[in-house]
Amino acid sequence: MQDKQINGFSKKSKPGKLDWVTGVFCENPAEAQAEFSSFWHPDERLQKIIDGFSENTISNFVLPYGIAPNFLINGKTYAVPMVIEESSVVAAASSAAKYWMDRGGFHVQVRDTVKLGQVHFLWSGEAARLRAVFPQMEQQLRTDAAYLTANMEKRGGGITGIELLDLSAQEPQLFQLKASFETCDSMGANFINSVLEEFASSLERFVENCAELPENERRVEVVMAILSNYTPDCLVSAWVECPVDALGDPGKAEEGRDMAERFRRAVRIAQIDPWRATTHNKGIMNGIDAVVLATANDFRAVEACAHTYAARDGQYRSLSDCRIENGIFHFRLDIPLALGSVGGLTKLHPLAARSLEILGHPSAEELMMITAAVGLAQNFAAVRSLVTTGIQKGHMRMHLMNILNHIGAAEAEVEAAAAHFADQTVSFSAVRDFIDQLRAVQPA
Ligand code: MEV
Repeated sequence: MQDKQINGFSKKSKPGKLDWVTGVFCENPAEAQAEFSSFWHPDERLQKIIDGFSENTISNFVLPYGIAPNFLINGKTYAVPMVIEESSVVAAASSAAKYWMDRGGFHVQVRDTVKLGQVHFLWSGEAARLRAVFPQMEQQLRTDAAYLTANMEKRGGGITGIELLDLSAQEPQLFQLKASFETCDSMGANFINSVLEEFASSLERFVENCAELPENERRVEVVMAILSNYTPDCLVSAWVECPVDALGDPGKAEEGRDMAERFRRAVRIAQIDPWRATTHNKGIMNGIDAVVLATANDFRAVEACAHTYAARDGQYRSLSDCRIENGIFHFRLDIPLALGSVGGLTKLHPLAARSLEILGHPSAEELMMITAAVGLAQNFAAVRSLVTTGIQKGHMRMHLMNILNHIGAAEAEVEAAAAHFADQTVSFSAVRDFIDQLRAVQPA
């Protein structure tokens, strides 16, 4: 067995890395190498682009890319690309989209697109003295960062505000510059971080040369400069509404009323109980993440922000809410989504560019709206299943199809299995036994 430690792994060629990893960690290195390399893109130019997204790459990890059609959002119809590995998610989103298309579609509004960044620093003087020189300091910060902001300003964005916060009561000598930014159609992470790092050096220079401060206070120690992924102002609201009588099948008003009340109660449970809220919000993120991934946005940033927002009043709660008023069912989702439709990987990743093409080259705001609508649709589909048939019915059908695929069932066998398992519990052994019995009677 070779040594599991290595120096200079990153310096090895890609085949060299693959050779080392499979040789040391895989039972059958030749088979593992063949499998990993079978996922390399045949077009070397494209593979080079993909490898450029990360480091130490040995292969590509493939996820299914699906489409949820029939999303009527603010009167416009979209077919939404979704990248996700969980079965039933795209089917559920599609079914909810179709359902609401017949009931007025999704309504969506972007509240704002403000993004935030912070420079934390230590300073030993009186907060009031720093506050007194802050107007000049702010001017200096803006001037020093002008070379970075000029292009963004031409596009209508830039720095929209800088505040000085005194945090010294929580941590000795700690202060913060809190800056807000408009980054137009880009997510803007690189732009914001570059500006913040410039602020950090500008702040040091300003304090060092500030004649209004006593000499022994002309020094700051920068702790860190980085954007905040908590962007509560990038808020998108998506909602659906219809008379409760129209929630059920046509002519079944009673069914609609019953479903409305069950649904409202289920959402209420997710408002009051963090355990349920976590699963409820996970269902929302099934849809959100799938669109975020398909458009090569940063799903970790979106997740982190969503969950902080869900806990904004001190308790973790549902991101969606449901009301029944005067016979009208209202279901809404409020979620901050800092997304971009230009820059980053959105153009570099060939399939992200295709996703944006399928969505009609949306602005960042439009992409935020589409994504929020999908989150709401996903949540609607999950909660509707939970309060009616239960979630396993739909899941089990997909599970059954996956098992049938795995054991290479023929079309007639798939049909027979689908009919048989409509009211039977699906398990791998039950499906295999059923197909074996079928083949014993009628050899494939
Ligand atoms: C499964 O991925 C998501 C659900 O658990 C969401 C929910 O319970 O609301 C079905």
